[in-house]
Amino acid sequence: MSSKKILIGITGSIAAYKTAELLSRLKKSGHEIEVIATSSALKFIGEATLEGLSGRPIYKDLFEPGRMMDHIRLARWADAFVVAPLSAQHLSSLARGEAHDLLSATALAYERNKPFLVAPAMNTEMWNHPATQENAKLIRQYGARIIEPSEGLLACGEFGAGKMAEPEKIESALLEAFRVLKNISVLFTFGGTREVIDGVRAITNTSTGQTGAELADLFHASGFDVTSIAGTSSVMPREAHVTARFETHADLNDHLREALRARPIQAVVHVAAVSDFSVETIGVGENTFSPSAEVKLSSDNRMVLQLKRNPKIVNLLKEYARDLKLKVIAFKLTKSADLRKREEASLKLLNSPGVDYVVHNDLSDAEQEGHRRQFTIYSKGQPALAVKGTADLAKLLMALIEGESPRRQPEVHA
Ligand SMILES: Cc1cc2nc3c(=O)[nH]c(=O)nc-3n(C[C@H](O)[C@H](O)[C@H](O)COP(=O)(O)O)c2cc1C
Repeated sequence: MSSKKILIGITGSIAAYKTAELLSRLKKSGHEIEVIATSSALKFIGEATLEGLSGRPIYKDLFEPGRMMDHIRLARWADAFVVAPLSAQHLSSLARGEAHDLLSATALAYERNKPFLVAPAMNTEMWNHPATQENAKLIRQYGARIIEPSEGLLACGEFGAGKMAEPEKIESALLEAFRVLKNISVLFTFGGTREVIDGVRAITNTSTGQTGAELADLFHASGFDVTSIAGTSSVMPREAHVTARFETHADLNDHLREALRARPIQAVVHVAAVSDFSVETIGVGENTFSPSAEVKLSSDNRMVLQLKRNPKIVNLLKEYARDLKLKVIAFKLTKSADLRKREEASLKLLNSPGVDYVVHNDLSDAEQEGHRRQFTIYSKGQPALAVKGTADLAKLLMALIEGESPRRQPEVHA
């Protein structure tokens, strides 16, 4: 899902602490957030937490001097309004069309053709009370989507329905409300290969799969039809789009061939860190072995590895593809402060057959803590484009795959 403006309302319930996670998730997905908290809500969760996570001051007063039209402005600003947790008190206010505080006034002023989601949280008896159930029915009729509370042990020590839905579920409901499915299939690879020497030894790399997993989730959230092939030790994405796992170069190659032959796919975003070499033979003392996970070779002697060069998988993807217009986006990781070397390495990959775009990033940039990753996108005949952070990279790649010209300031590297 492209970046949306999301208004979050928080009311007085112990479940308010879970909203911190919801804010964090939405923020990480690149959305703009504004928060309205009731005075009761702020007895349960600190304003500092909410401001820190949303990156914005918290709205809490209908009569704030100089900002008395916030209830109208916020209602118009928002693409979606989520109240989590929703107290019995405010559920009642919504059902009766009250406007006694900033949250209820904003909800009443909010256009009913936009997504309005609520996640009630309360004691089971409160939730099951006919008055509450009647209120829930009414707000549904007014267009609210109720994310049902679940059953469980409640903070009050009683067991039953009334637990606020988990942040993940609220986020999915929100995405679902926005999701306009695109008819574009994108295949992601991420994580590192692991070339077997024997049952306990392997040649691998330091790739975590994090960037690829995040990108794939962002594409999924934006309505692309995403499938992913992930390394066996890769970070897993939040959404369930991983259809195969690979260990070796050969596994990854097989999975890609199979996936691209099975159905038309419009783009491959190939973030996987693929070994250039596999083990051909292992010399141990006088003996020579083939790599096998079934044995553990002796460490008493000198071990000599004979490596064979692997074919570049990225160059084979267009041959495998059923969609002849397949776009291939390759990734180049360097570790060099020398900008010219970074560019040379990226252009070399760009000029290899079958590659349409190269996304470059440098390990030394990534190592700086708290620094949003800097990516440079190279495409044939176009100036290089630089973006910071995975969310902006995803937006740019989406535009390239959808065939739009990216609306970024081009940054030409010397
Ligand atoms: C410790 C504690 C926990 C509470 N938990 C809830 C709750 O989960 N759900 C609810 O509807 N009310 C709960 N209440 C009551 C509300 O906080 C109270 O009705 C308040 O007036 C709601 O205000 P608001 O809707 O303006 O935020 C709780 C109260 C206390 C003291």
